[in-house]
Amino acid sequence: MKNNDKYIPFQPIQKRDRRWPGKQIAQPPIWCSVDLRDGNQALVNPMNLEEKLEMFTLLCGIGVKEIEVGFPSASETEYEILRALIDGGHIPEDVTIQVLVQAREHLIRKTFEAIDGAKNVIVHFYNSTSTLQRKVVFKTDMQGIVNIAVEGAKLIKQLGDEYTARTGACLRYEYSPESYMGTEPENAVWVCREVMNALGATREHPVILNLPSTVESCLPNQFADLVEDFCDRLPGRDAAIISLHPHNDRGTATATAELGLLAGAQRLEGTLFGNGERTGNLDFVTVGLNMYTQAVDPGLDFSDIGRIRAFYERVTKLRVPERHPYAGDLVFTAFSGSHQDAINKGHAWMKAHGGAQWEIPYLPIDPADVGRQYEPVVRINSQSGKGGAAFVMEQTFGYRLPKAMHAEFGAAVKAYCDNVGREISPEEVMAIFRREYTDVQGLYTLVSYKLTEIDDEEDESHVHFEGKVRRNGGPAAEISGDGNGPINAACNALNLLGLEGYRFVDYAEHAVGSGADAKGVAYIQVQAPDGRMCHGVGLSHNINTAALRGVVCAVNRHLRCG
Ligand code: KIV
Ligand code: ZN
Repeated sequence: MKNNDKYIPFQPIQKRDRRWPGKQIAQPPIWCSVDLRDGNQALVNPMNLEEKLEMFTLLCGIGVKEIEVGFPSASETEYEILRALIDGGHIPEDVTIQVLVQAREHLIRKTFEAIDGAKNVIVHFYNSTSTLQRKVVFKTDMQGIVNIAVEGAKLIKQLGDEYTARTGACLRYEYSPESYMGTEPENAVWVCREVMNALGATREHPVILNLPSTVESCLPNQFADLVEDFCDRLPGRDAAIISLHPHNDRGTATATAELGLLAGAQRLEGTLFGNGERTGNLDFVTVGLNMYTQAVDPGLDFSDIGRIRAFYERVTKLRVPERHPYAGDLVFTAFSGSHQDAINKGHAWMKAHGGAQWEIPYLPIDPADVGRQYEPVVRINSQSGKGGAAFVMEQTFGYRLPKAMHAEFGAAVKAYCDNVGREISPEEVMAIFRREYTDVQGLYTLVSYKLTEIDDEEDESHVHFEGKVRRNGGPAAEISGDGNGPINAACNALNLLGLEGYRFVDYAEHAVGSGADAKGVAYIQVQAPDGRMCHGVGLSHNINTAALRGVVCAVNRHLRCG
């Protein structure tokens, strides 16, 4: 792409007294979902009535207390959903529905008809205020824009007062200077101040001033400067709740929202997984769980993100991408060997230290906290390291391979991956383990054995091993040997087969499976006569048998490798 002067860069305000960079998000904002309005209007196939009701119920279940249900003056279906919610008694006592309307008389009147019977309502009205919209769409000056907003505000106040007097409902107002980002800061303050006056906003009855980045067009820090400046300049700041409605055109809606909160915003509008016009709205899942991982309770329940995602994908017919923060298929998966190793060590660290706090590298959140504990965290392909295969063996199959074995087994798994050229399943990892160790077809087979513990005169004991070993399917040869334990004794006995020089180095064992099916697994490390280290694994209900099979396995593997 050539360098061009086609685009007009955003003109940031010159702010020297910014305070927001030193602040922290210590409490959640008021969340207002616009899934049923902004999100729905952006769908190729908008949700039907039943799906909308389901979405409303889901949002209530997540804990959203303010839900924009539509634009009832704009379409019959939007009107219907509102009526269905109200007449069907689907709105919980502590949930406020929000309805959007342009600042135009007939639309405002129709909106009041649509909300009839609702107890808690936010009437949200807007008009475009940006320099660009004034120039190319409305062909009017700022005074004209202010007049439209104020006329709308006055009518809304009048109809609202009548409605509350008649029904005793709790009615609140929200005003959006649409395309706020492209509006001169002094003009944004001007129109909002006039609207607040027209609505009679007070500290007790504040008006929601929603500052939409209708089309995201600046850096998140520049937006935060705008928000802080707006809050500083707004007369009667206490009589307003500052809300943000970030779209994601530059891919930075989350950062815009987070820095906007630092800058003084108290409320966020957004959607699940960021559905919305063009590149979407602010994603509540990301921003909510970002807070959660910073030890701030977002007040939204994403503990079963899989269910929420499945529902979302069903009704929107959109797909949550694999890399979507917290919810994508691959976000709790590590392919790289060093990541797998560190995750493995993190799990061990937490186990050893009581695990009260989450301290696992490469996993910013405990997958279990979003209901994903059953997924394999570590997946295996040719990029995976030695720790990854061992991790899968332990997590999926309960085999705790000793550290010294990781490199040997990891190399076998890597060779397999390189050969098949794709990710491999845990079952394939297990099959490699069997092929390499427990089912290894080698030269020698242990047919039977007997161990006798013998007390020495010096009050020490040693073990005498007698066994039958078959070579290459031939007749069984009888061997015997002594050692300070069964493995040592067996290694010494192997000398009789001409297998001199196998030195026992290390041994580990544990049970796999449970109840009557439980077996002992023994991991044996021997040093071969040529100095190479070799591992063998034995499995049996009898742990001595497992250990002795492990010795024979180690020898066979060494002989196989030549
Ligand atoms: O993006 C936007 O500006 C809107 C307004 C109507 C709030 O959706
Ligand atoms: Zn929007």
